[in-house]
Amino acid sequence: MMCSLRKMEEDNSKHNKNSVRSLREHVDENPCGIVLNAPRTRQPKVFIKTFGCQMNTRDSELVAGVLLKAGYQLAENIESADIVLFNTCSVRQHAEDKVWSEIGCYGRCFKPQAAGRRKKHGACSLEPVARSPVIGLLGCMAENYKKAAFAKSALVDVVVGPNDIGSIADVLDEFFKRHIPQMAVGRKQRIDAVYDTDYVADKNHANVIIMEGCDNFCSYCIVPYVRGRERSRPAHEIIREIEGLVRKGVKEVTLLGQNVNSYTAHSSWLMAHGRKKIDFIDLLKMVNEVEGLEKFDFVTSHPKDASEELFRVMRELPRCKKFLHLPVQSGSDRILKLMNRGYTREHYIKLVKKAKEIIPGLRLTTDVLVGFPGETEADFQDTFDLMKEVEFSAAYIFKYSPRPRTKAAGLADDVPQPVKKERNQKLLEFQKSLHKKKSMYICQDGR
Ligand code: 5AD
Ligand code: SF4
Repeated sequence: MMCSLRKMEEDNSKHNKNSVRSLREHVDENPCGIVLNAPRTRQPKVFIKTFGCQMNTRDSELVAGVLLKAGYQLAENIESADIVLFNTCSVRQHAEDKVWSEIGCYGRCFKPQAAGRRKKHGACSLEPVARSPVIGLLGCMAENYKKAAFAKSALVDVVVGPNDIGSIADVLDEFFKRHIPQMAVGRKQRIDAVYDTDYVADKNHANVIIMEGCDNFCSYCIVPYVRGRERSRPAHEIIREIEGLVRKGVKEVTLLGQNVNSYTAHSSWLMAHGRKKIDFIDLLKMVNEVEGLEKFDFVTSHPKDASEELFRVMRELPRCKKFLHLPVQSGSDRILKLMNRGYTREHYIKLVKKAKEIIPGLRLTTDVLVGFPGETEADFQDTFDLMKEVEFSAAYIFKYSPRPRTKAAGLADDVPQPVKKERNQKLLEFQKSLHKKKSMYICQDGR
């Protein structure tokens, strides 16, 4: 096995170039050239490697912001880092395996002593160095494994769950003081300040968290167990964050949430202004009014909650991108029921036809899960037929893997791997052929 450290660096080079630029800005803001509130004279350098969804990308920025404020620096590359934080995803087993393998690879290169305590893996392309960087496991895997993460890998020094990232600086400070493993997990929700830590990696586009967690409990999904129950940020804080981003030059934002349609904000501020609550559609209208913002979109919507009213509002708001990510997961009613998705195949097809009718030029994308327990050839054919009927602009197709604590983990994972692979391949090839056909139409129309 070749070490993928070089690739990790390439993946992160864009992020870290921006990180360094932002760090300079941060220092320059202070006329004395000293980072305010810095608790130490030496500033350890942190490298953050992100896995998974856009929410994790945003969380990595939030971690960077917390650490910069506490006097840490962002490392330009993984080799120069004193601390390497792996911000991770638990949604599929494969995603977790990848993280453990990268931690192992990094550790063998840079923490030969700790790595030596574990069994030997394949060769690494980098020479071991006589330094011992701190390794942190952050995000969903931290919440999934908790203290078992230390047993799983002796290379891991700190473990911090997604709702505990606000304590990252304290956790690292404690580790540097005591040199024993540190962990912060189990918080039900973050404090509001941790949603906006004043750091963004991209100058033009930013992700803004509007709600977090999920109460849907789809039977295959680990998200409600690692991210927690649904909660929405106050609308005025979201708007304040977007206004601040626009002042920094950001032109486009993506509103993030596991289930954005469930956004509901109640607050004393609202009561004082004569309103009981703000829902997702109200929020879209408010975002559309932010002066200087050119475009915005949102992920992820749920087919049981998306409505015709939402589609009409999307059409009418000039700054709202005509883009909808609406995961279908399966085209079989029997499987949708087992998945606890809360809609039928017919509902989904009617809904997307309405969306396409109401929003001209809509870019519609989806997620599909193949090989759910008990999925027969006929169930798969239903999914395939649905994809042919809907003609998505893009589809993300995943092979089911059982996740701990979920309801589906109690069912036999009885679709053999080669069958999952074949079904996955069939759908991918269909999507590819669809794109070829569509680009052909575009050429013909253009002639
Ligand atoms: N196995 C495979 N894919 C999964 N997803 C969620 N849970 C699992 C699982 N256990 C997929 C779903 C979801 C996307 C983010 O990940 O399709 O929409
Ligand atoms: Fe997971 Fe379902 Fe919630 Fe999406 S809606 S995060 S798939 S439980």
